[in-house]
Amino acid sequence: MYTTKALKSLFLEYMEANKFEFSPRELFEPVDYILQLGGKRLRPVLLLMSYNLYQEEVSQSLPAAYAYEIFHNFSLVHDDIMDEAPLRRGKATIHHKYDINTGILSGDVMLIYAYKYLLDLEKKEAIPEVLSIFTKVSTDVCIGQQYDINFETAKQVTIEEYLQMIELKTAALIAGAMYTGALLAGATKVDCQNLYEFGLNIGTAFQLQDDILDTYGNAATFGKRIGGDIVQNKKTYLVLIALERANSTQREELENLLSSRPIDEAGKIEKVTQLFKELNIKELANKKRDEYHLKALENLNDLAIDKKKLIPLKEVADSLLQRVQ
Ligand code: IPE
Ligand code: IPE
Ligand code: MG
Ligand code: MG
Ligand code: MG
Repeated sequence: MYTTKALKSLFLEYMEANKFEFSPRELFEPVDYILQLGGKRLRPVLLLMSYNLYQEEVSQSLPAAYAYEIFHNFSLVHDDIMDEAPLRRGKATIHHKYDINTGILSGDVMLIYAYKYLLDLEKKEAIPEVLSIFTKVSTDVCIGQQYDINFETAKQVTIEEYLQMIELKTAALIAGAMYTGALLAGATKVDCQNLYEFGLNIGTAFQLQDDILDTYGNAATFGKRIGGDIVQNKKTYLVLIALERANSTQREELENLLSSRPIDEAGKIEKVTQLFKELNIKELANKKRDEYHLKALENLNDLAIDKKKLIPLKEVADSLLQRVQ
């Protein structure tokens, strides 16, 4: 079995050998730019790990790992346009470095290349199912993204609706990556399904963590603008649980703050964060994330493999979901 570090290195080598060195550069250079910016490579590593639970040699699954990473990066390029985000992985987002049209078209071609890499898989008999799961989870991402945008201006959003939205926009792709790894390795349908469920729960915990870090993260390591969700009036778990806990004065203040886009963005972030503090929101959000982390671990109990093989996977989950102080 490979270590997590070794899987990541294998993936990075594969990426390096498959750079987007095509013409015209106006289309493909931004693709290389975003892919070379780094990131955790979470989805490809999870896909390879899932494969490696059942097969010793992982090279056959590399094109699928790349497809998931390309799709993920495509979704970030368009997400950053939609969220008006200036920073990604500590560097300028594509629409800031280039322009919005570049973000749209370079994003589009990435989506197409994700399919191309899935079609390149050696295990031809698995391709229809690989494409079918990819089509399902990538559609889920779009549906989740639309709910995320709808919720910015919705009067009432329930916590259940929010959890459903993040399962679609973030967890589904992670689940699809894990399912695909196991499927390509010849795992049983039951194991593929359990890994999918694990992906959904760990992905939900991961998006909760992303929402926590958006307010409480360290700007240097988070690589995105701190407070961006507050500026955009995102209905994150932090906001929804705050609205639920607030007294009528606090609720009115929070609703007012999150229904406009004032010029003084720093002042708005400060006021919302102060309300969060009064209501112990960081703690409550940490707790919700931990609930999903535990649920995810339960999904691993029934896999038909030696449980020792799960140690690296559990370590990856732990490292992603560490408590935010
Ligand atoms: C960012 O995903 C978008 C979310 C789903 C929160 P990652 O946090 O995996 O982004 P990178 O690839 O590591 O930059
Ligand atoms: C997840 O949501 C984005 C995608 C599914 C593409 P966010 O909007 O919170 O992601 P970040 O914080 O910009 O990475
Ligand atoms: Mg977004
Ligand atoms: Mg965003
Ligand atoms: Mg975010």
